[in-house]
Amino acid sequence: VSEATRDDRVVLRRAPSSRDALALMAAEVREGLSARPLPFLPSKYFYDDRGSALFDEITRLPEYYPTRTEEGILEAVADQVARVTRPREVVELGSGTGRKIRRLLAATARATVRCVLFDVNETFLTDSCRRLARDFPGLEVNGIVGDFTHDLDCLGPGGGRLVVFFAGTIGNLHPDEAVPAFLVRLARQLAPGDAFLVGVDLVKDEARLHAAYNDAAGVTARFNLNILRVVNDRLGADFDLTAFEHVAFYDRARAWIEMRVRARRATRVRIPRADVDLALGEGDEIRTEISAKYTRGTLEARLPGSGLRLEQWLTDADELFALALLRRIA
Ligand SMILES: C[S@@+](CC[C@H](N)C(=O)[O-])C[C@H]1O[C@@H](n2cnc3c(N)ncnc32)[C@H](O)[C@@H]1O
Repeated sequence: VSEATRDDRVVLRRAPSSRDALALMAAEVREGLSARPLPFLPSKYFYDDRGSALFDEITRLPEYYPTRTEEGILEAVADQVARVTRPREVVELGSGTGRKIRRLLAATARATVRCVLFDVNETFLTDSCRRLARDFPGLEVNGIVGDFTHDLDCLGPGGGRLVVFFAGTIGNLHPDEAVPAFLVRLARQLAPGDAFLVGVDLVKDEARLHAAYNDAAGVTARFNLNILRVVNDRLGADFDLTAFEHVAFYDRARAWIEMRVRARRATRVRIPRADVDLALGEGDEIRTEISAKYTRGTLEARLPGSGLRLEQWLTDADELFALALLRRIA
């Protein structure tokens, strides 16, 4: 970690992947778009300032039950989680606006001396760190600009640590390929007894899932297409956004929502900084996100070998969403 900048009580650090962010992005975009049969773009590239603001708008949509439901569970269990974890340090991965962690910090107040927010979006990270520092006097607030699939070792050794990962963002990692590796890396940053509180969206009625990713106001569609604008802005690409449409569907066999952008007509895209020249036919698609849905059983099945065990499964009355409290085993 380098380039620490200090601003009142906020210390902001940049993880290695954010120092070479453009080179990394060029490599990841090149690799993703050359995948066949289905090219893809890594979903972290949704989140420039416009994308992060659009996500925040999604959280308020009537169809988008995950945020409201997770906040309801958190409200009900925050005191209990605080009591059983008593963390000196709370870390939030993919913190975004940093709203949810406040409920937890209010509950852990006396035990917690440091809070670390971790996100790829530096603007949102800086703002949410400043707001936390203002509203929780006495709390040391650190921000890490980085990628939670590359840079977790920036957290340093654990001990008295509670890591939280809300919004079902873990669902954006491939359940068989990326999740096991992520859990092992995360567990390395935890000392025995440290805890990981992770929000998972649950397998449910497909119509409800479909509606959540195909809202009537079209905000999710704008969020999805924004990834092409980010590639244009950062890598000098010439995606014509009007040539693409939003696609989101539930894949029952894989238990995940998949978002794609589909070419409305044959189109050619050049991405100079990634050395990509892409020809798409009408109807061709690029995957932009998976959002895996879990059950208690399918989440627990990913734990053996990770060094983590499930301690509490906290869910709402309709079992739409769950907070899983995991513990690092000795
Ligand atoms: C679905 S939003 C959730 C935001 C917030 N935690 C909430 O509960 O509403 C995902 C967040 O993770 C961040 N993010 C996505 N991929 C990331 C990655 N690979 N590394 C770090 N942050 C990432 C995004 O910038 C965004 O703030």
